[in-house]
Amino acid sequence: MGVFAGTTAAACVTSSLALTPTTPFSSNKRTTITTSSSKCRIRATHHQNLTAFPSTSHLFYAKSLRTTKPRIFLPHLIASLEQVDQTYIMVKPDGVQRGVVGDIISRFEKKGFKLTGLKLYQCSKDLAEEHYKDLKLKSFFPKLIDYITSGPVVCMAWEGVGVVASARKLIGATDPLQAEPGTIRGDLAVQTGRNIVHGSDSPENGKREIALWFKEGELCEWTPVLTPWLRE
Ligand code: RTP
Ligand code: MG
Repeated sequence: MGVFAGTTAAACVTSSLALTPTTPFSSNKRTTITTSSSKCRIRATHHQNLTAFPSTSHLFYAKSLRTTKPRIFLPHLIASLEQVDQTYIMVKPDGVQRGVVGDIISRFEKKGFKLTGLKLYQCSKDLAEEHYKDLKLKSFFPKLIDYITSGPVVCMAWEGVGVVASARKLIGATDPLQAEPGTIRGDLAVQTGRNIVHGSDSPENGKREIALWFKEGELCEWTPVLTPWLRE
């Protein structure tokens, strides 16, 4: 992650950079990447270590940068192509009341995802309705809104490659009786209407929900020291 967390930038970097054979690349040493809507601009403070990358593979090169010079290909730059997603995880009021907040946070921490936002919050009816707006026509919608607003919730933003789908697996099926043992709902709940935790169902909804529940300044960008022990 680090400097390559922005996926547009990562894709551009991966498609257009390589190192000269004698200069090992330190992935986040003062290399800055900026993007604009029309193109990627890459500025390297240590630019002597970076050269345009004309891969022989059609998958990884920018047309304008092709040359016939041989280059070294760096797999860890390709790894940075993997998209870093965000997901919104929320311990619902029953999870807070039952004292399982720590357990739930711990499962995401232990898995290796990065916490970027966390707060205890009493949400309004309007916010709950906006959050679950896709379910507005469902017969259970009024009960769902009453449930979500019945007490404080714990709002969390988590980040990582594949975090949206993985979080859904960690959470388990909507009906806790159908959820596998080992999942949060499978271990800690018995009824759909009290299934203790929410997880975004797509990367797009992850972004939407984080923007809905967190204000600017409530999210934290940081680099966990364990990062190199979680991803090669
Ligand atoms: P969530 O959005 O809360 O993570 O849950 P989900 O994706 O697993 O399930 P979804 O279909 O999005 O439903 C949202 C929440 O509505 C409540 N529900 N009640 N009584 C019912 O039939 C029923 N169906 C859903 C649950 O609290 C569910 O998590
Ligand atoms: Mg859902």
